[in-house]
Amino acid sequence: AKLMTSIKKLAESPGITFIPPTYTCTNNPHDDLAALIDTESTIPTVDFSLLTFGTPQQRSQAIHDLGKACQDWGFFLVINHGVPESLMKAILEGVQGFFDLTEEEKHEFEGKHVLDPIRCGTSFNASVDEVMFWRDFLKVFVYPEFHFPTKPAGFSELALEYCKRTRQVTRELLKGISESLGLEASDLEKFLNVESGLQIFIANLYPPCPQPELALGMPPHSDHGLLTLLIQNGINGLQVQHKGKWVNVNAMPNSFLVNTGDHLEIFSNGKYRSNIHRAVLTNKATRISLATPTGPSLETVVTPAPELINNENRKPAYIGMKYKDYLELQQSSMLDGKSILDRV
Ligand code: SIN
Ligand code: FE2
Repeated sequence: AKLMTSIKKLAESPGITFIPPTYTCTNNPHDDLAALIDTESTIPTVDFSLLTFGTPQQRSQAIHDLGKACQDWGFFLVINHGVPESLMKAILEGVQGFFDLTEEEKHEFEGKHVLDPIRCGTSFNASVDEVMFWRDFLKVFVYPEFHFPTKPAGFSELALEYCKRTRQVTRELLKGISESLGLEASDLEKFLNVESGLQIFIANLYPPCPQPELALGMPPHSDHGLLTLLIQNGINGLQVQHKGKWVNVNAMPNSFLVNTGDHLEIFSNGKYRSNIHRAVLTNKATRISLATPTGPSLETVVTPAPELINNENRKPAYIGMKYKDYLELQQSSMLDGKSILDRV
């Protein structure tokens, strides 16, 4: 079989000053940069400790803030979450160690199908991408069953701990979100079987790009699932769409960048729209990000919450679809922002 070439290897080619034409986005993504960038706005912040340890009044304020962040942005920063900084640092080093494996070693983990539990590769959705993206990735299904590459040494143990901790934070946030929708804290989790919900570990490596203004690390897209927690190695590159403009996201050290996914949009019957975001590049440094999305269980047919429809006397805005089928449909489709959600 032909070995895939990683972007890391491509970027390390001696004297590389141009990107191959397949990486040039037909619509120069940065044409719109000057006109469509919003430098004034910053994403909202949610203090996790108030959600979990606050007085009843602080908790209800935090739930209100969380709901507002979901409604206005679909994207927020979570601080005081209790996951040790040392673990966050160590897992990012583990990710670096994985991408530093040889091409042959990584080839062993090169899954093909969207439901393969371990897959590494390049681009965004290589089976349908017409333009390629300047990104290497490792995607692993880590819950309800924990899968993981056996290399490098110690990576799997760290990942197990990191995934456990991020899942706990996610579930607390989902309780707050459930309440912010006027439901019981546990309603969302029960309805969507989050207890056996799919958690994915997605590590991204964006090597320095010689023509960063011509390519993208990831195209505009929304995430499937409920909530994604993201950390990065101190290099920014995430842009979030807000009111028709792109907002640069500056992470705070030791915080989680959190965004809402398509299945929260469906569950909330459109109240909490999943957020469109993309990754831009730099020629100065290698950026690493690590996303841990959590969704319903794969077998769950996701529909709007019945209470939200009855209470508000609204029609369901989405047809139910099994989460697993959604993933397969998404993987086989050319994505244009959120077009997949429109077809459900
Ligand atoms: C993502 O969209 O899943 C990750 C984007 C990033 O690397 O910041
Ligand atoms: Fe994403």
